Amino acid sequence: IKRIAICTGGGDAPGLNAVIRAVVIAAANRGWECYGIRDGFNGILFPERYPEGGVFRLTRDKVRGIGHLGGTILGTTNKGNPLHFPIQMPDGTTRDVDRSDEILEFFAMKQLDALVSIGGDGSLTIANALHQKGLRVIGVPKTIDNDLDKTYTTFGFDSAVSFATECLDRLHSTAESHQRVMVVEVMGRYAGWIALHAGISGSAHAILIPEIPFDLDKVAEKIRARDQEGRMYSIVVVAEGAEPAHGERSVIAEAEIGHAERLGGIGERVAKRLAEHTGKETRVVVLGHLLRGGSPTSFDRLAAMRFGTAAVRGLDEGKTGVMVALAFPNVDYVALSEVAGRMKAVPLDSDTLQTGRDIGISFGD
Ligand code: F6P
Repeated sequence: IKRIAICTGGGDAPGLNAVIRAVVIAAANRGWECYGIRDGFNGILFPERYPEGGVFRLTRDKVRGIGHLGGTILGTTNKGNPLHFPIQMPDGTTRDVDRSDEILEFFAMKQLDALVSIGGDGSLTIANALHQKGLRVIGVPKTIDNDLDKTYTTFGFDSAVSFATECLDRLHSTAESHQRVMVVEVMGRYAGWIALHAGISGSAHAILIPEIPFDLDKVAEKIRARDQEGRMYSIVVVAEGAEPAHGERSVIAEAEIGHAERLGGIGERVAKRLAEHTGKETRVVVLGHLLRGGSPTSFDRLAAMRFGTAAVRGLDEGKTGVMVALAFPNVDYVALSEVAGRMKAVPLDSDTLQTGRDIGISFGD
């Protein structure tokens, strides 16, 4: 190997820059050159958008001092999946085309030997397709949602959970002072990891996650029981993908790109219904994209650096078509085909869930 490229795709997560830095330094120490692709694969697919180069050299200097910064110096996008690229037909209809060959041609033309693809489910599915077409690829698991299979955790998750926990800590005093119910909506797509971990760490009284369809009567019961004990406030954490056992779904609209549904709005509805059920004053806080910003925690920084260097070591050892994974306590490699397109939900027998139940948290079931 002489030259490798790195790309970051999908929603950003704290720790992306730490991975980039680790890859660049570990590669440079082997005498390899590194290149960064801008905005997912847009730097290759739309060179005209980047007068200064859609793909650029990443030297040690370029990654100096970025390890603790949120976001990604490469840029990212949720749009422009090269496998399903929407093009406008002359008759006004749109058709999906597969532009992945253009990426392979670019790698061949620029004599790039391998790709490190840092991303979630979508990016790793693309990485797997590129691998199947013959590109040497290693994936790095990124997402605040922690919904990737075959890895103990993704980087970004711990930072999101830590921030959400801090927010919950802050909400206790204002909720108690006003004797209110505070409903806190957190991201997580179709999994309840962030809600569960932050909810337990931040001493929530009810946690609603997609894995357990909820009944608001049960949550209202919990709130009333607290009131009777003289604890006149309650904190309810709701994952954006949580769904009532009966009634409206939380998905409110399709994103224009069509490959993902836009989630949200469930916190607002839960707060309204709980106010009706309990007669208590209720407020909603949507943490949303705040969970994706800021510095990575030390856990995520270290995970990111371990993943980045393991990606380079893996390439050096001839690995391809794999994702770096955390097989606690060590880093391991798993086939991309075992990860792509598979979502990891909170297992209903998880001891974390049981921990919540044992300390009396309501899951609305
Ligand atoms: O997957 C990360 C995530 O932050 C989800 O938790 C959330 O549903 C989604 O991305 C939001 O994506 P965006 O607003 O960037 O389209």
